[in-house]
Parts: sequence; structure tokens; C-alpha cells
Amino acid sequence: MKLFDVYPLFDVAIVSGRGCQIRDSHGTEYLDLYGGHAVISVGHAHPVYVKAVSDQVAKLGFYSNSVINPLQQELADRLGKVSGYDDYQLFLINSGAEANENAMKLASFHTGRRRVIAFDKAFHGRTSAAVEATDNPKIVAPLNANGNVTFVTLGDIEAVEREIAKGDVAAVIVEGIQGVGGIRIPTDDFLRQLRDLTKREGVVLIADEIQSGYGRSGKFFAHQYAGIRPDMITVAKGIANGFPMGGVLISPEFKPVYGQLGTTFGGNHLACAAAIAVLKIFEEENLVENAGLVGDYLLEALKGLPGVKEVRGRGLMIGIEMQEPVKALRKHLIDVEHVFTGVSGTNVIRLLPPLCLTMEEAKDFVARFTRALANVGE
Ligand SMILES: Cc1ncc(COP(=O)(O)O)c(C=O)c1O
Repeated sequence: MKLFDVYPLFDVAIVSGRGCQIRDSHGTEYLDLYGGHAVISVGHAHPVYVKAVSDQVAKLGFYSNSVINPLQQELADRLGKVSGYDDYQLFLINSGAEANENAMKLASFHTGRRRVIAFDKAFHGRTSAAVEATDNPKIVAPLNANGNVTFVTLGDIEAVEREIAKGDVAAVIVEGIQGVGGIRIPTDDFLRQLRDLTKREGVVLIADEIQSGYGRSGKFFAHQYAGIRPDMITVAKGIANGFPMGGVLISPEFKPVYGQLGTTFGGNHLACAAAIAVLKIFEEENLVENAGLVGDYLLEALKGLPGVKEVRGRGLMIGIEMQEPVKALRKHLIDVEHVFTGVSGTNVIRLLPPLCLTMEEAKDFVARFTRALANVGE
């Protein structure tokens, strides 16, 4: 059987990793500034993580959500404490799209309304409502185009106000920092205005922290720079360091109803063991603080390099907007400098490394990147 060919691939097979280093099938070592698309949070093959997952799978990998799973409560307790959302409730699923799907569905149940406001360049996933709330018509199938989502310009509070005034809006969904959209940061003022407006009008505010959350921005959640508390926060990617998992943090104002939300695999024993290990490592190694410190260094060091138009981001979520398209540069970084990075659109290199990136590794990256800028295309 052939694989369904939906990804343009680099001709590299990664077979092992340690911290921020990864190795391919020929034994070549690469510096990982991509984290497998913002997923690797505590580093590859962290010994505490490996032991926790191995011990759990040897004991019990899965049972069903019809029995008590004490690991779910342990995860909820730890996540509540470290994120500052102790009073919220946690619903566990398996991916980011599912997290947003469930958050929007719950907002619709709660308000009895059907419309969602999302922002230009937003990415919220590839399923049903999540893909409808994603600002990319190319990935929205006719099945998903149900007219339930209205896009407004990020930062345009009057436009949000005008839409909400129509009386049918259940939720506004906003990324803590837009990732796929090119590392675009909503201003703190805009997030505060959005919080005030949605609260006043009884509209649910959902912060999609799937890429920007879990310590990546230097705070546990990127929206915490604005000092707001959304009604729901969606998480995935770094939550279990590569084990598929997602979650919705839900304010105490939402009362659960049996049967309304559910999942077979969500919150299974193995996923919880992985996610608990991640939070233990965060605490032991101060990874959120590390993301802030190393990120600050990178944000400064990358500015002013030849061909760089703008460097934006927070913590270890950084976009380097170049004057020229970056396709050749990204390939050169992999093939010659042995560095993995991400991209957004045509001109932005995206850095989403594991949060354990050391200052030495960051400096090493800047050196390799500078060399690549001088040599690309030669
Ligand atoms: C902000 C944001 N939301 C949602 C998703 C979807 O997550 P998943 O691919 O796990 O469904 C992504 C994935 O890139 C994302 O960056």
C-alpha cells in the first residue's frame, strides 16, 4: 500500500534524538530549532520522560473513560497549579483540532448560539469547526463551509463589536500568538479589550494556546502577558512531548453535562503519564523561564542580520521575516548547516525549538544561520 501523499518531504529520516539534537538514518546530527513543529517541549528522549512512559506502558497503557483514572486528576492538579488556572476544569482529548472543536462546541451549547468570530491568518486545525475557523480557504472542504465563522482583522476591536452586536455569536477564538500565520502577536491592549467586550456581551472567549502555550512564550500561556483570563484555553503540541494529546481548560462557569462531550482515547493512562512527566521536568528544569531567557537572546541576536526584515515573537516562538522567500535558505540550513527550522508562508523562518534549548545551542544556531545567510544559493 502507498502512503497518501499529502506532505512535501525533505529527504531525511530522523531516527533518534537527545535534548535539542536529532540524528538521521545516516548518522548525521542536526540542531533542532523546530521541535517537530512545536511539539517537543522537554527535549528528545528526556530520561525522566522515557522512564515515566516506559513504566506506565509496562503497567497499563489504556483503559476506558468509564472508570476512574487517577492520572487524569494528577495531571489536572499539576497543570492547574503551574498555569495559574487551579479553579478551571480540564477536558482531555488527543490533538489540537479536537481541543478547539470541543471548546467551540461547548461554547455553542452554553450560549445556544452558532456563530464564531476568528481572525485573519488564524489556524485552528483541520477538522469540522476548527478548519472553518482557519483562514485558509484551500483547506476548507465544502462539507466544512457552513457559514458559522466570520473572520475579522486581528486587532480590529470595532469589527468584533459590530459582529457581536448581531446577537448570534457564541465565541471568539484567538491564538495567544499566531503561529501558522507568521508569528503575529495580538497586542496586550487588544486582548484586554476583547476580554472586556466578550464578558460584557456574554460571548465565550477561547484562547488557542496550542502552539503559543505550555511555556513556549516565556510565560505558561502567551495571553498571560496581557493579564487576561479567557473562558477556555486550548492546549496540545508540547503537552506530552510528542505523545498525541490535547486539552481544554474550562472556566468554573461552565457546568458539565453527562454525554455532551466524550472521547475514546482522550486522557488515557499512557498520555497522562507522558503529560505528568512533562510538567515534572518543567518544574525541575525551570523550562518556562529558560524559554524566556534564551528567547530574549535570540530575538536580539537575529535582528539586523543581512536580509532580515523583521524578527518577532516571545520566548522560543520566533519568526524571522526575510526580504526574500526562504525556501532555499531553509533547505540550505538542513543540508549544509544541519539545522531544522520551520516556515510560515513564503518569507518567514519559524523557530519552535524544545524549551530546553541552552544559551550555547542558541549561539551555535545564530552562527550557523549567519553562515547560511552568507552562503545560500552559492
Ligand atoms: C494554533 C494552533 N491551533 C490548532 C492546531 C491544530 O493542532 P493539531 O494539528 O494537533 O490538530 C495547530 C497546529 O499546528 C495550531 O498551531
